[in-house]
Amino acid sequence: MRQKEICRMQKSKVALKEFWTFRNESRKKFTHGMHKYPARMHPEIAKNIIAKYAESKRTIIIDPFVGSGGVLIESMLKRKNSIGFDINPFAVLLAKVKTTVINPKRAEFEYQKILEKSKRDYQRDKFYPKLVPTDFDVEFWNKPSVIKKLSILKKHIFKSKDRKMSNFLKICFSLTARHASNQRRHEFKHWRLEKEQLKKYRPDVFEIFSDICETNCNLMASFRTTMRGNKTKTVVKFGNAVNLSDNFNKINSEILDDAKRHLVITSPPYGDHSTTVAYGEFSYHSGSWLDLPVNRLKEVDRVGLGGQRYDVEMSDLESPKLISQLRAISKIDTKRAADVYAFFFDFDKCLEELSKILKNKSHLCFVVGNRTVKRIPIHTDKILVQLALKYGFKHIVTYPRMIPTKVLPFKNAPENISNKSGRMMNEERIVIFRN
Ligand SMILES: C[S@@+](CC[C@H](N)C(=O)[O-])C[C@H]1O[C@@H](n2cnc3c(N)ncnc32)[C@H](O)[C@@H]1O
Repeated sequence: MRQKEICRMQKSKVALKEFWTFRNESRKKFTHGMHKYPARMHPEIAKNIIAKYAESKRTIIIDPFVGSGGVLIESMLKRKNSIGFDINPFAVLLAKVKTTVINPKRAEFEYQKILEKSKRDYQRDKFYPKLVPTDFDVEFWNKPSVIKKLSILKKHIFKSKDRKMSNFLKICFSLTARHASNQRRHEFKHWRLEKEQLKKYRPDVFEIFSDICETNCNLMASFRTTMRGNKTKTVVKFGNAVNLSDNFNKINSEILDDAKRHLVITSPPYGDHSTTVAYGEFSYHSGSWLDLPVNRLKEVDRVGLGGQRYDVEMSDLESPKLISQLRAISKIDTKRAADVYAFFFDFDKCLEELSKILKNKSHLCFVVGNRTVKRIPIHTDKILVQLALKYGFKHIVTYPRMIPTKVLPFKNAPENISNKSGRMMNEERIVIFRN
């Protein structure tokens, strides 16, 4: 981003907030728009942060909570090597596909061939029950004809020997399985269509697959054109952010040897898997259709940041802000206070891990949300600044931004009483540090 522009806007908080909101900028350019994923970071955030803080050619970008891989795509576009980790196997596959350039013309040829064979199989009344997942109630979530058609598509997609191509088609298949299922389109949690809607619902699986493949081939075509001559390397691995240094040591790649500086750009979970953004729940059905490891899919929300409560006394994480907010929540609900503590306990570990691996003069950018627990606002950005201090991270600046589009409701029911709602997040903070 233009430095002068930021300085000018620093004077006007409203203009600054509006700048980082990117209200009119598409979130679906290039391969960004290939598949839904909860709480995706706006690509313009990563783009602007890279432009500002990755001056050296040999800066590598790290995203310990890579999700659908948006930060890595922007790194590639800016010719920066990058590494991403996630504990969600579906996210790992999605991020890999979105950062792997393939020939869209070949993909188009492949998907049309698959479609042709699948339609023929369906006319001949073929069905592959062994390819239907058994890890969830498929009949509850899909109409019988949908199950049949998905099993046929899967059979042909999984046959392909070209791994990059079949991964690309698997992601198209995943979105098809989602859109053709009885799942409500705009919900990330498992909500089935209403009875009346279900009666009228007649999804055409092959048409949905065809449309999704066509869209994704076009997105890949624009990404490929922009990436021409670009030799940037990207690594995406399964890994927990609280073991980041171990994960890092396991990477056997020249990217690491070549690095002069690091730049961390990441949006950690907000800390509310159980109530709102459940990455595991979102990924479970399509992950099962894709034969991803079910035990790992099942664990995502439990193992994720703050997913486990610790059976220990709440120790001092050296954040006076956190302590005062925990005290306030404890007075209302000690269990919820323990949840909040668990989230920051894990977050603190992640900061410690980052301090072990980052080169000197590296920058870190966290996009966090200030959620409300029991009507008490949790100032995640301010707590983060206090936690980071003990690991030698100097706070540089915090930018506020609005969340203009959001699948989640802006209101929830904090006491689980209907008609009694509370505000949820509609703002985020972009918090920047240097080590
Ligand atoms: C807000 S999302 C990231 C979204 C991403 N920036 C994007 O644009 O798609 C947070 C991600 O953190 C992952 N996650 C949660 N806890 C984790 C942990 N302890 N280690 C690694 N990943 C974790 C979730 O699976 C989820 O994909």
